[in-house]
Amino acid sequence: MLVLGIESSCDETGAAIVKDGRYLLSNVVASQIEIHNRYGGVVPEVASRQQLASIIPVIETALEQAECGWEDLDAVGATYGPGLAGSLLVGLTVGKTLALAYNLPFLGVNHLEAHIYANWLRQPDDPNWQPGEDSGEFQVGDPDFPLLCLVVSGAHSELVLVRSHGHYELLGHTKDDAAGEAFDKVARVLGLEYPGGPSIQKAAQQAEAELQRTGKPRALINSTYRLPRAWLRGTYDFSFSGLKTAVLHLAEGATAGQRPSTPGAKTQISKYTSMGLSTQKSGLNVPLLAASFQEAVVDVLAVKTRMAAQEHHVKQVLMAGGVAANLALRTRLEQELRPLHIRLSYPPITFCTDNAAMIASAAFFHLLHGERHALNLDVQPGLSLPFKQKV
Ligand code: KG4
Ligand code: ZN
Repeated sequence: MLVLGIESSCDETGAAIVKDGRYLLSNVVASQIEIHNRYGGVVPEVASRQQLASIIPVIETALEQAECGWEDLDAVGATYGPGLAGSLLVGLTVGKTLALAYNLPFLGVNHLEAHIYANWLRQPDDPNWQPGEDSGEFQVGDPDFPLLCLVVSGAHSELVLVRSHGHYELLGHTKDDAAGEAFDKVARVLGLEYPGGPSIQKAAQQAEAELQRTGKPRALINSTYRLPRAWLRGTYDFSFSGLKTAVLHLAEGATAGQRPSTPGAKTQISKYTSMGLSTQKSGLNVPLLAASFQEAVVDVLAVKTRMAAQEHHVKQVLMAGGVAANLALRTRLEQELRPLHIRLSYPPITFCTDNAAMIASAAFFHLLHGERHALNLDVQPGLSLPFKQKV
């Protein structure tokens, strides 16, 4: 079954053609990073207007690259939530319209579920590339149920037990900021580029390389700037706002006296923006602080994921969402799980961040069960995973 997937939940416009929920025929993403970088974050109205400008050319390119025409497609899937309403509306409306015009089944896709399904995707160089085979619910190379998934994106941080296709149980979630959100806000405080995750990772790598070059101990990462970890013991929940505030206070201390005090109350966001500009000139060691922050996030995510995997006796752990692209997190989780013989899988970096291939994959597994959406489906900006129960 060939599915056209469409993704437009935030600042990326994506279209992809995927066969049987796994085999990638094309994947096109138009990113707005350069536009939003000017503002240090996503501006919703700018994002939705840009979606409008990009969506048709992106879909046409995806069809072209997959060398397929409308008559070859079996269905259309598009994200209907969660995300920014204006951005979601563009992809959902175009997806439904194309389904109507070409008389194809339509499926609205949950963006978070799609991040999990990125783990089913494979490219032509994958040893499990067998697109000719008759492929139903299970094929060699698919993740094994029951599995644990660490979903870490810009707006969500969740530990989810997945018993089978569509059966999700929430083990824990963030009480405040999502991991990606913390990366983005801390990057802004430190004057690093948007999106914060890759910038902080790069700065942390610079710090590590510098320590190595000068023969200093790696332990300096945690002893120079002592940052807190919210363990929230007895739960699989997370909290990153205290950590974010600790970095803010360090940066504030370092820049005190350097910038004129602003009269009146300031919002958190304007505080971050002004801080980001000034820390560059402060005595703060930005790469070392970035490394220290990254390690604090990774510590909590990796240890809690390992504990949940042990308690629920899963054989496999999946990573999903933009923060799953983080190399330090991947390495640390691998170290936690290997001694327990628990397999760790994560999508290639391009499928961790927002893309439409994962949308097509998730759509396929729903279509396989005969699911369809009516064409009056509306966007749901606050959509969550369809949890069966909270354990
Ligand atoms: O999944 P995603 O692309 O969009 C959402 O659905 O939110 O996630 C975006 C988030 C951003 O917060 C970004 O800073 C973070 O993923 N991210 C990373 C890395 N690459 C992207 N965080 C840490 N390390 C990375 N290498
Ligand atoms: Zn996402």
